[in-house]
Amino acid sequence: MKFQGTENYVATEDLMVAVNAAITLQRPLLVKGEPGTGKTVLAEEIAKSLGKKLITWSIKSTTRAQQGLYEYDAVSRLRDSQLGDERVHHIGNYIVKGKLWEAFEAEGDDAPVLLIDEIDKADIEFPNDLLQELDRMEFFVYETQETIKATNRPIVIITSNNEKELPDAFLRRCFFHYIRFPDADTMNEIIEVHYPGIQKRLVAEALNLFYDMRDVSGLKKKPSTSELLDWLKLLMAEDLPPEALRAKDAKTAVPPLHGALLKNEQDVHLFERLAFMARREGR
Ligand SMILES: Nc1ncnc2c1ncn2[C@@H]1O[C@H](COP(=O)(O)OP(=O)(O)OP(=O)(O)O)[C@@H](O)[C@H]1O
Ligand SMILES: [Mg+2]
Repeated sequence: MKFQGTENYVATEDLMVAVNAAITLQRPLLVKGEPGTGKTVLAEEIAKSLGKKLITWSIKSTTRAQQGLYEYDAVSRLRDSQLGDERVHHIGNYIVKGKLWEAFEAEGDDAPVLLIDEIDKADIEFPNDLLQELDRMEFFVYETQETIKATNRPIVIITSNNEKELPDAFLRRCFFHYIRFPDADTMNEIIEVHYPGIQKRLVAEALNLFYDMRDVSGLKKKPSTSELLDWLKLLMAEDLPPEALRAKDAKTAVPPLHGALLKNEQDVHLFERLAFMARREGR
């Protein structure tokens, strides 16, 4: 059972090695990388390629570790008791399973893939609070006095955008992989996967401009894979000729449809200034 990328996902050699190492070690795979470099989609594709179910736990700033295990729904219980509902006598009726529980419970040989997406969004204590549960793949439910244990260890993929440092004790338990920004060859493959048969010249011109753009110093937010894909889609929809992106002309103007690539006004201003200066020099 090895992950080798899929027809929808271009996995570099080092990424495949990392995924398979984490599976062998039965440790969570911690994936970092710039926004839009395919971290979330990676988990989906691992599940698909190994024929496993994907359970996604998307973390927000307010998410607590306990929510991944279970929550006790006291409000429903109170309401049922007021209505005289029979359910009220069994506390188990008010235990709401979390994503970890769901993943531990999967039956048979088929442990699912559990994606804990954007772990760095949560409180700094969040990763520490999950150490035991992810290590031992079990936890205790006080209300019902039962221990929930995974019959098969799920494959755990954790993504982070580096908004917060993760604690050392947590890092020790993970296998780590940083998705490096794709080089032009890999990017060509990724584009081909999304837009099969796209005009080669358009891609070549667009990639030139795109990588030049990423090299401009002082950009607040460099455009990444997902922005490039959006931009190409627009270029195709508008039927723009590849020549419109030619370096000579493009340098003296902000790229067409730049709203797909530049996501804040400072960066747009920066490009307008650069274009203005290039035009002056060219005179
Ligand atoms: N290696 C790849 N192969 C195919 N598609 C890719 C690859 N890398 C990125 N993409 C595409 O880029 C887009 C963004 O990917 P994804 O949402 O997984 O990024 P992310 O790293 O999770 O970003 P964020 O940190 O913002 O959540 C998706 O449409 C995905 O299909
Ligand atoms: Mg993501």
